[in-house]
Amino acid sequence: MAKGFYISKPLGILGIILGLGAVATIIALSVVYSQEKNKNAENSGPAPTSPSSTVATTLDQSKPWNRYRLPGTLEPESYKVRLRPYLTANKDGLYIFEGSSTVRFRCKEATDVIIIHSKKLKYVKTQDQHMVTLRGVDGAPVPAIDRTELVEVTEYLVVHLKGQLQQGSLYEMESQFEGELADDLAGFYRSEYMDGGVKKVLATTQMQSADARKSFPCFDEPAMKARFNITLVHPNNLTALSNMLPKHSSVLKDDPSWNETEFDTTPVMSTYLLAYIVSEFTSVEKTETMAAGNNVLIRIWARPNATAAGHGDYALKVTGPILKFFADHYATPYPLAKSDQIGLPDFNAGAMENWGLVTYRENSLLFDPQVSSSSNKERVVTVIAHELAHQWFGNLVTVAWWNDLWLNEGFASYVEYLGADNAEPTWNLKDMIVQNELYRVMAVDALASSHPLTTAAEEVNTPAQISEMFDSISYSKGASVLRMLSSFLTEDLFKKGLASYLSAFAYKSATYQDLWVHLQKAVDNQTNIVLPTNVSKIMDRWILQMGFPVITVDTKTGNVSQQHFLLDPQSKPTRPSPFNYQWIVHISSLKAGVRQKDYWLQEASKVEEQFKIAPDDWVLLNVDVTDYYLVNYDEDNWRKIQGQLKKNLSDIPVLNRAQVIHDSFDLASAGMVDVTLALNNTLFLIKEKEYLPWQAALSSLNYFRLMLDRTTAYTPMQNYLRKQVTPLFEHFRNVTNDWTQRPQNLMDQYNEVNAISTACSNGLPGCQSLVSGLFRQWMDNPSNNTIHPNLRSTVYCNAIAEGGEKEWNFAWEQFRAATLVNEADKLRAALACTKQVWLLDRYLRYTLNSTLIRKQDATSSITSIASNVVGQTLAWNFVQTNWKKLFEDYGGGSFSFSNLIQAVTRRFSTEEELQALEQFKEDNAGTGFGSATRALEQALEKTRTNIKWVKDNKDVVEQWFANNSL
Ligand SMILES: *[C@@H]1O[C@H](CO)[C@@H](O)[C@H](O)[C@H]1NC(C)=O
Ligand SMILES: *[C@@H]1O[C@H](CO)[C@@H](O)[C@H](O)[C@H]1NC(C)=O
Ligand SMILES: *[C@@H]1O[C@H](CO)[C@@H](O)[C@H](O)[C@H]1NC(C)=O
Ligand SMILES: *[C@@H]1O[C@H](CO)[C@@H](O)[C@H](O)[C@H]1NC(C)=O
Ligand SMILES: [Zn+2]
Repeated sequence: MAKGFYISKPLGILGIILGLGAVATIIALSVVYSQEKNKNAENSGPAPTSPSSTVATTLDQSKPWNRYRLPGTLEPESYKVRLRPYLTANKDGLYIFEGSSTVRFRCKEATDVIIIHSKKLKYVKTQDQHMVTLRGVDGAPVPAIDRTELVEVTEYLVVHLKGQLQQGSLYEMESQFEGELADDLAGFYRSEYMDGGVKKVLATTQMQSADARKSFPCFDEPAMKARFNITLVHPNNLTALSNMLPKHSSVLKDDPSWNETEFDTTPVMSTYLLAYIVSEFTSVEKTETMAAGNNVLIRIWARPNATAAGHGDYALKVTGPILKFFADHYATPYPLAKSDQIGLPDFNAGAMENWGLVTYRENSLLFDPQVSSSSNKERVVTVIAHELAHQWFGNLVTVAWWNDLWLNEGFASYVEYLGADNAEPTWNLKDMIVQNELYRVMAVDALASSHPLTTAAEEVNTPAQISEMFDSISYSKGASVLRMLSSFLTEDLFKKGLASYLSAFAYKSATYQDLWVHLQKAVDNQTNIVLPTNVSKIMDRWILQMGFPVITVDTKTGNVSQQHFLLDPQSKPTRPSPFNYQWIVHISSLKAGVRQKDYWLQEASKVEEQFKIAPDDWVLLNVDVTDYYLVNYDEDNWRKIQGQLKKNLSDIPVLNRAQVIHDSFDLASAGMVDVTLALNNTLFLIKEKEYLPWQAALSSLNYFRLMLDRTTAYTPMQNYLRKQVTPLFEHFRNVTNDWTQRPQNLMDQYNEVNAISTACSNGLPGCQSLVSGLFRQWMDNPSNNTIHPNLRSTVYCNAIAEGGEKEWNFAWEQFRAATLVNEADKLRAALACTKQVWLLDRYLRYTLNSTLIRKQDATSSITSIASNVVGQTLAWNFVQTNWKKLFEDYGGGSFSFSNLIQAVTRRFSTEEELQALEQFKEDNAGTGFGSATRALEQALEKTRTNIKWVKDNKDVVEQWFANNSL
């Protein structure tokens, strides 16, 4: 699945991006949005925790049907499944599908019970009142069925037999059933959308992780691979799609308005990768001839209007090159004859890598050059690359069980950057991984409550436990450590091992240790790369223990040491480590700009000549941030790095300029360096034109803004940022020919937005007149919005912040009239930017009126208002006053209480606010906090941390900004 599932979880404490908001005073809304994009909009779809899942532990575990894992006595060989979804409600108002299925399986171990997954299916009983019939294949004798039953808790259909199935024999089991085609985004489900005022219904699937069983009875574990013969019965004017191409389609004899379409038999594959869709969608297509000479049919499916408007064209353009890239990267041909990709309105998961039929949210596949920004385009190409990477890694070779999900998702999250880079070679997408994955996940992984990448297979059993695996550690830390491994092995060697792994386990399943074995073989077959020990010993340190080290170098003594980095140095890791929180660390370095030979740190600390530096030299570790750790130096060396940046910043690679900022702010948060040292590391920005260093600074300083924007320190902070950003703003004014063209390069486009946002929110007059002027032009001619899509978020927000009621009302009208979600979302966020309290108050009240703000958007609108310093108190009062109503109206739904609590308390940093929060907790104990219970505890904790931060830092930071803003 594409990532994003985990974004609502708190990202950590200090020094990280705290959310999307605060646009009036903001730091780069659009760019923050562009980074959040991959994560935010996506929500992978594992089923919500089933309340019954806890019950099972009290069941008699000696009965195999009370255990969540299949017993392994039977193994499927192939299925024949016929499904008929009804896209109109039946007389009871229900949408249903009918199905029949035959599974052929081999008995591995004699048994008198058949246990197969089945969820929410109603079976048609046979004459002897059983739910299935059973027969032997090739004359194997069949025991009679004693009885059949459904075990709801463990989601099984259980067939008790009067005798034993024989080891080695093949059997076939047949059943007929009916299921609900619910709009629950799980299994075979229905999706509804409006088209020109008409409600349309389509049937589609989301099987990962454990919902194929909701569509037909199956051995629903990833290692239980089989072949599938899928047949769909569907209205004859709608298209039926599945993993394979149709074999034939014929008119249904007894009901000629229906067709019956049978698809080619699939290769041996896992149930969670199945897909079938019935819709009126249309496609654009082309046939790509691959390097191996095979042809692959590529189709991009979408709503007929979206296809007609050309919104699938970009995806079609990049898919062929990406498939070719991966076929080459894996040294393995694309395994199927076709690749369908479909953009679904209201698809909750970001995207799902179903083999040969990938499903996406519309905004992750479709691209409209008229209104979409560059970050929308980047999102499309990276999500496509992610899902196509899975077509081999994940689909052809599958992790044997969900505990190893990190390997599957971490790998795809790493190579998505390579695939996307290949499709858009001028965008430098590979560098984005540091900001988007590494730094993002470090913020979580630096908490004492983090967890290791691996989990024991025995600890992952229930669907709820499986869905917990989909978090930022699996995706982003997985990606970061695999990138590190690939970097110290070299990409070439990594590819050799990878190809050998894929060929050894094609159509089978594997574990992460299997990948290590094949990488080790590649290492052993050459002599250039020498590792200190074997691949698995190195990698164990990174995947069996949580967190990462900070590497400290003392350039006077040459001492280099490692220590588990915790943002809160007082905290203790919540679990012991088998390696005592020591890592085997690959260290690359630059000495006075020259690359030194790589070094491996295997001890807690060591003195090395290599790191003892002459007085006028400087050293810098972790070149291009390929490795997963922070770096700290003696103060002298920090000063020399600052001197170098001041003198000539291009001697330090751009990723390391970002690193100098990022790492020092994290170290300051943990009290390992002075906050002024971190601030001094931002001085060079006055000469910096690149996106990544700016982004690192703006992300880190966002916390300072939240802590200070209601204090006397804020004016000096704004003065400093204004001074730093002025040359950048002027630079972009020049290169964009007075803002009339966009820069060529993607990261320059992002930094253009940073420049405008930072300049406007810190009061640069030229910026304010720019955004107000652009906005006024639109107001004068509402039917012709000439503001470039890239700039819209920041222009809207800052123009509304500058303006008054007229601007706000205009934006509100435009929001109400917007037909495109992307555009509506930008306006909705910008409406929260006004500095007029009464307008914010009115807007806040709108959020509780679902005819004005859709229910699903209520939380994020309140969150935006709370991010605005003017709206903060308002939103907090609103939440306090309306808690009971909010809770009663939205308690069960999509309303995210934890985001809400997090947002309204984000600035809390005084004793009074702490007391108010405690009072709130007490006052509403009766109503309760539901899903926000944990967020409330965290908010209390966070407020205490903030109080301490302000106490320790405010004065010195204020003084520093004052001294440096002249
Ligand atoms: C699925 O189709 C294949 C190829 O036609 C066939 O060999 C296999 O028996 C079928 N499986 C079932 C359960 O009918
Ligand atoms: C899509 O196209 C149909 C027919 O061309 C039209 O009636 C309908 O209004 C369009 N829908 C949207 C959302 O534009
Ligand atoms: C339905 O079956 C007929 C007859 O084989 C075929 O011509 C037609 O294309 C099919 N329609 C669909 C939507 O598959
Ligand atoms: C398909 O046929 C049904 C029934 O005749 C009709 O209601 C529906 O609008 C048609 N859909 C399309 C996409 O043509
Ligand atoms: Zn994925």
